Amino acid sequence: MRVPDLPTDAAVLRAALAWQVELGADEAIGETPVSRFEAAARPEPPVRQAAAAAAAAPEVPAGVTTEALAAGCGDLAALRAAMAAFEGCALKKGARNLVFSDGNPAARVMVVGEAPGRDEDRAGLPFVGRSGQLLDRMLAAIGLSRKAEAPEAAVYITNVLPWRPPQNRDPAADEVAMMLPFLHRHIALIAPEVLVAVGNSAARTLLETTTGITRLRGHWAEWRGIPVMPMFHPAALLRNPELKRAAWADLLAVRKRLDEA
Ligand code: URA
Repeated sequence: MRVPDLPTDAAVLRAALAWQVELGADEAIGETPVSRFEAAARPEPPVRQAAAAAAAAPEVPAGVTTEALAAGCGDLAALRAAMAAFEGCALKKGARNLVFSDGNPAARVMVVGEAPGRDEDRAGLPFVGRSGQLLDRMLAAIGLSRKAEAPEAAVYITNVLPWRPPQNRDPAADEVAMMLPFLHRHIALIAPEVLVAVGNSAARTLLETTTGITRLRGHWAEWRGIPVMPMFHPAALLRNPELKRAAWADLLAVRKRLDEA
């Protein structure tokens, strides 16, 4: 059978690529097979070497719990280093980068998402892909930005998990449980006035409940005395634009709380 000529027009190729990404493709596979075992033996790419050097944390002795590790972190730099050096979570092996946080640590508002996706894994920063861009626009609508220097206008962003789950699957309960002390320490170090939990994983994890985000959203809750507003994940808003009305109401509730404080 004759194989049809492949398109060479840039716009057609771009559209075909965008279509595949939309379907969930996140790696390009070449004609020649690649041995992942050999690849693992090769030196680390520069970005990982740089991240490892920046972390410069001591080896974690076997048997040390994440509770003990997290409790020993007196500031954000120590926490980042401890997480970067932590080898107990299998997700780290499949990830390119630790995604620790973005934004201003002095912010009044701290956003907690689920886990990095493909774009975040590549950039080493949370919420930089399509849903992150929507999150930035949503926050901007209530006068908040991760780039703002003034704490009143600033936001600080992290995730329940700092490494990308393969194929963007939901975080597993054991992964969340293992990494939770780091998240708790992270929140305690930032000490925000308001927490915003975006999506099911973040809301359920912070509020220690199995109730879904559809019921939780819009209702103020608390994490260790800090008010928490659970709201829909921006990825859900991209899939179901009719949820945007509820998300807007939740953002207004956050704005009101900040204004009244
Ligand atoms: N979704 C999340 O929950 N977090 C990110 O950082 C990116 C997408």
